[in-house]
Amino acid sequence: MSDRGTFLTADNKNSAAAVSVKDLRKRFGPLEVLKGVSLEAQEGEVISILGSSGSGKSTMLRCINMLEVPDSGEVRIGGEMFRLKKGRYKTEPADRRQVDRLREHIGMVFQSFNLWSHMTILENVIEAPVHVQKRNRAECIEEAEALLERVGIGDKRNFYPGHLSGGQQQRAAIARALAQRPKVMLFDEPTSALDPELVGEVLKVMRSLAEEGRTMLVVTHEMAFARDVSSRVVFLHKGVVEEEGHPAEVFRKPRSERFRQFLSNER
Ligand SMILES: Nc1ncnc2c1ncn2[C@@H]1O[C@H](COP(=O)(O)OP(=O)(O)OP(=O)(O)O)[C@@H](O)[C@H]1O
Ligand SMILES: [Mg+2]
Repeated sequence: MSDRGTFLTADNKNSAAAVSVKDLRKRFGPLEVLKGVSLEAQEGEVISILGSSGSGKSTMLRCINMLEVPDSGEVRIGGEMFRLKKGRYKTEPADRRQVDRLREHIGMVFQSFNLWSHMTILENVIEAPVHVQKRNRAECIEEAEALLERVGIGDKRNFYPGHLSGGQQQRAAIARALAQRPKVMLFDEPTSALDPELVGEVLKVMRSLAEEGRTMLVVTHEMAFARDVSSRVVFLHKGVVEEEGHPAEVFRKPRSERFRQFLSNER
């Protein structure tokens, strides 16, 4: 059986969470950034991750796709756990190929877009499907064009990123992440680098992805998005989940005093 088999066995196909993080710990030298974070996203859930600067939000997202390797804890995608091993000085992936394979299920959107500046928008979008996933180029182009239409920049496909506005670049980055056909989308402050008038067009695309049932983990300071779109809100504080719940409940009646303070500063 190929190692893909573990992903699709009858046992875990329906029951496994799209993403599961258990007791995640990560330190950078003396600084313990994640102190045992656990989180689960079922298929179709949209989880907004809130927290003040330095609370570990980006580190947590980066651990989910192994851009940072956690010191300990478990990360599962669709039930399959990233296998880690203890190196001499730090923990590392036990199997790089498994990391590459699981990463294909994870679409990541960064604050700073991270498009390839020397490639057109269309080339950016088909890069991973054609060269990493080895899918048929003509099909990938067709799908990429549909995705670019979907995010409202079909007419920009032959432009270079530098010729697009920030909002258009971020929508291109979202199309690129979707082109991998991921099981989960991770967003790290996707609108924080944008001029205020461009934020809405990106949030609108994200809202439509949520409505079509995409599984999404969104680090954001957009409180209206967190309140109206997400199925769950997680508040990180100093590397631990300080508060978690349905947005209608946690926004109306925060249990944690720190979350209450955070909300009053954000508003
Ligand atoms: N590669 C690294 N090396 C050393 N320290 C790091 C590294 N990455 C993050 N840190 C530190 O870890 C802490 C948490 O960083 P992280 O980026 O996860 O916070 P954040 O919640 O995303 O903050 P922000 O809202 O400012 O983006 C910070 O103190 C940061 O300086
Ligand atoms: Mg961050």
